[in-house]
Amino acid sequence: MTGKRILLVIGGGIAAYKSLDLIRRLRERGAAVRCILTKAGQEFITPLSVGALCGERAFTNLFDPQSEFDVGHIRLARDTDLVIVAPATADLIAKMAGGHADDLASAVLLATAKPILIAPAMNPMMWQKAATRRNVAQLVADGVTLIGPNVGEMAESGEAGLGRMAEPLEIVDAALRVLAGAAGKPLAGKRILITSGPTHEPIDPIRYIANRSSGKQGHAIAAAAAEAGADVILVSGPVNIPDPGGVTPVHVNTAREMLEAVSKALPADAAIFAAAVADWGIASPNAQKIKKTKTGAPSFALSENPDILATVAKLKTGRPRLVVGFAAETETVIDHAKTKLKNKGCDWIVANDVSPQTGVMGGDRNTVHLVTAEGVESWPLQSKTDVARHLIDRIATALNGSSQ
Ligand code: CTP
Repeated sequence: MTGKRILLVIGGGIAAYKSLDLIRRLRERGAAVRCILTKAGQEFITPLSVGALCGERAFTNLFDPQSEFDVGHIRLARDTDLVIVAPATADLIAKMAGGHADDLASAVLLATAKPILIAPAMNPMMWQKAATRRNVAQLVADGVTLIGPNVGEMAESGEAGLGRMAEPLEIVDAALRVLAGAAGKPLAGKRILITSGPTHEPIDPIRYIANRSSGKQGHAIAAAAAEAGADVILVSGPVNIPDPGGVTPVHVNTAREMLEAVSKALPADAAIFAAAVADWGIASPNAQKIKKTKTGAPSFALSENPDILATVAKLKTGRPRLVVGFAAETETVIDHAKTKLKNKGCDWIVANDVSPQTGVMGGDRNTVHLVTAEGVESWPLQSKTDVARHLIDRIATALNGSSQ
């Protein structure tokens, strides 16, 4: 954060006292902090205390002739790398959503082209109200980032519920993520788990059941997530391509090993299951090489492997916020994918047609359909790298859109 300029807008809520600590936390990390204190904010803390902590006077008035000649609202909006609104009251949020500009804070928020991070703080009833829900949804759609609110006891009423402002250190972490995102790292600070490749199910020490998955799509997703700044754990079955740079690779052979590695790698913010996991393994693989005998070909009993995607998607605790599965189909791709979305309990399914004539298995290009509860999006034929980048963009938007 060293050298970053942060404009902190302090609204009128009891949580304003925490913003004094926030100023200190930001400054101790090397940021230069300027503050706007709204009229309501001044009912809780004074321009004097804010100014003392910032090392610069607090800005309070849109129509202050002195300010407008010196550091006017347009300069406040421009000369910053990030705007933080903390506490963001229901009223400030409504003004932002509606594009109002009748005081210094709202005018600067409307005039700025810089990223905005808000830390809402209000009574739980106000937070739940349809009007606030609408306004917050509008702000998220406009690209504003939220941190909190948290569940906790309200200072004024003692009521418990969602509405308590995030703690100063949580706001600092979110600010770091937004600043990193503005620098092209939208997944900075996020932990992403990805499975890739086939699994090999042993028949005996030298033979196995496998499938044609090359790992190219899963590995491309891991590479794109790392490029976007994520902390990536790539659990891969046996493939003939290298581990992408900047990821933590875990190599496994069987479906059971993959499940164990995935369980160890949790928690994660998002998990993407691109591996072509064998549905069945040999119930009891032979300890020694099976020899040809005069009695003819051997037969094997199969046992069903654990469904790794469904296991993680249905976790009661520690489920990643976003669970994405793949559907490898050879017919009625979208219908099968919709059924998988429901049966496996995941949030999204990336469906692709892997019939031999498509050349997807082992190839470098892919046509996918993104199936979610909202509907189906069919993406054009593109390289697996581009599919990966688009998917990672969507995941970043989903994870950063709201912090709850
Ligand atoms: N998957 C998994 N564990 C399994 C089987 C599948 O995690 N034992 C995951 C895959 O990584 C993929 C999704 O489930 O994200 C769908 O895999 P797919 O092979 O298309 O479907 P199956 O569940 O195997 O169903 P079917 O073979 O009947 O189409």
